[in-house]
Amino acid sequence: MDRLDGKVSIVTGAASGQGRVAAEVFAREGALLVLSDLDAEGLKETAQLVTRQAGGDPVLHVGDLTQEAANQELVDRAIERHGRLDVLYNAAGLVRFGSLHELSLEDWRFTIDHELTITFLGCKYALRAMLRAEAGSIINMSSLSGPYRGSQRHAAHAATKAAIVGLTRQIAVEYGPRGIRCNAIAPSLIEYAPGQRRIASQTASHPPEGIPLGRHCRPEDTAHCALYLASDEASFVTGQVVLVDGGSAIA
Ligand SMILES: NC(=O)c1ccc[n+]([C@@H]2O[C@H](COP(=O)([O-])OP(=O)(O)OC[C@H]3O[C@@H](n4cnc5c(N)ncnc54)[C@H](O)[C@@H]3O)[C@@H](O)[C@H]2O)c1
Repeated sequence: MDRLDGKVSIVTGAASGQGRVAAEVFAREGALLVLSDLDAEGLKETAQLVTRQAGGDPVLHVGDLTQEAANQELVDRAIERHGRLDVLYNAAGLVRFGSLHELSLEDWRFTIDHELTITFLGCKYALRAMLRAEAGSIINMSSLSGPYRGSQRHAAHAATKAAIVGLTRQIAVEYGPRGIRCNAIAPSLIEYAPGQRRIASQTASHPPEGIPLGRHCRPEDTAHCALYLASDEASFVTGQVVLVDGGSAIA
């Protein structure tokens, strides 16, 4: 119950989906949480869930993380409250799907902003804080779709998720010598249970064909992977992309 004991951890996208479940898991493992999202109501609900389960008093930050100022503000909040930043889990993101020949430039730019730029900015400001302590762990959100597999109508999504793998490896190499690790999680399509809050426009509803482990990914699966990567148990793991896909990529 103390795998993140006292670690100051930012979780973005914490109002919903994987970010919310990760906030719950991190809190149970002793993290000092700083939660951020665009959605103030959802964020408050997450804070209540977390406090009910694990106590504590998460710092809440509401902002549009595609904007530079919001990322600066988020890291400043963590430093003001706790004096340092140990973990960033970049779980916020939003996609517009469409076949490439029909995709508008606006939808392409929206997806680049909400998947790739949001990740870049999160990393940029977290790195500034982590460099002061020469320690930290960053976890980015990639996907099975893009770096490992093509999917219908996923052009912009696939491009950003492959780019996030490159960004993750780059950070690992450039900042490893300064004590900072960076890894990514690549989930297959996620199945949310009734009552679990999510905004993602796609959720697994079809039978889990082609998945050796015989079920879809759940938000708990990625949360536990993030927990490992955030913890000192992963202190020699960096630049990796962990597929959380039940074996689909190799089937
Ligand atoms: N759901 C899936 O099947 C799946 C599979 C692979 C990868 N992913 C990736 O996981 C990430 C999160 O999706 P999810 O499944 O947790 O669902 P989700 O859509 O429920 O959660 C995303 C959260 O990010 C927040 N967010 C979006 N734009 C923001 C912004 N500009 N500023 C601040 N917060 C913002 C949303 O408000 C929401 O709370 C996305 O990057 C998605 O591409 C999802």
